[in-house]
Amino acid sequence: MSTSLITIKNLNKTYSNDGVETPVLHDVSFEIEKGEFVSIMGPSGSGKSTMMQILGMLDRLSSGEYLFEGKNVNEFTDDELAKLRNKKIGFVFQSFNLLARTTVMENVELPLLYDEDHLELNNEEKIMNALKAVGMEHRANYLSNQLSGGEKQRVAIARALVNDPGVIFADEPTGNLDSKSGLMVMKILQELNNDGHTVILVTHETYTAQHAKRIIQVRDGRIISDEQVKDRLIANGEGELLK
Ligand SMILES: Nc1ncnc2c1ncn2[C@@H]1O[C@H](COP(=O)(O)OP(=O)(O)O)[C@@H](O)[C@H]1O
Ligand SMILES: [Mg+2]
Repeated sequence: MSTSLITIKNLNKTYSNDGVETPVLHDVSFEIEKGEFVSIMGPSGSGKSTMMQILGMLDRLSSGEYLFEGKNVNEFTDDELAKLRNKKIGFVFQSFNLLARTTVMENVELPLLYDEDHLELNNEEKIMNALKAVGMEHRANYLSNQLSGGEKQRVAIARALVNDPGVIFADEPTGNLDSKSGLMVMKILQELNNDGHTVILVTHETYTAQHAKRIIQVRDGRIISDEQVKDRLIANGEGELLK
């Protein structure tokens, strides 16, 4: 049996708005195994976020095939996709997307409130464990607007983790951060990967991409290379080590 987590074959995506067609992804094929750390890298406008939205089941492909854990994603209804997504996938975005004037704990709790199967379980323990994983437990009762950008992103990662999803998608997670906070985020993503999470990182920066184990390069909606990283960067909290 294939161990592939994600298989896409000949994927195409064209946006249609009021009769205007925008072709964005062209004949994209790759596989991602459980436990990988992959960067999807390319310049602005090359289709990275579109790819992440499709892989993350936030949007649908126009043609081609997408298998997640061997199951054909095209065949799921929107409700089924929403359930699957909430259980299996955590998202981190460039702009953090936290609720303002809402506490850190409440922000991290949100995915648990959508999880109909587990409403009765001890949310507080899960929330605190997720906050510990990103070193933010000491800010549990702060309002999200009382945090720095780097702290906000760490809380956003805790929110992505709280349901214990196997896969984390991060779209330009360091894009709004200073370099030190960015490195902290990369360190956390590497730790999550070391703990067995599959991490899929979208970035336009070679330097950020090199923290992954594999880089898929995209140009104008096509894959131009797909290689293991030779000189991988390891963020260790103080700087970088080459591995
Ligand atoms: N909802 C949409 N409708 C039409 N075009 C879109 C939409 N979203 C993105 N695009 C277009 O798709 C292309 C790729 O965008 P995107 O996937 O965001 O690239 P990247 O993340 O690599 O910067 C851009 O030309 C963008 O304008
Ligand atoms: Mg983008």
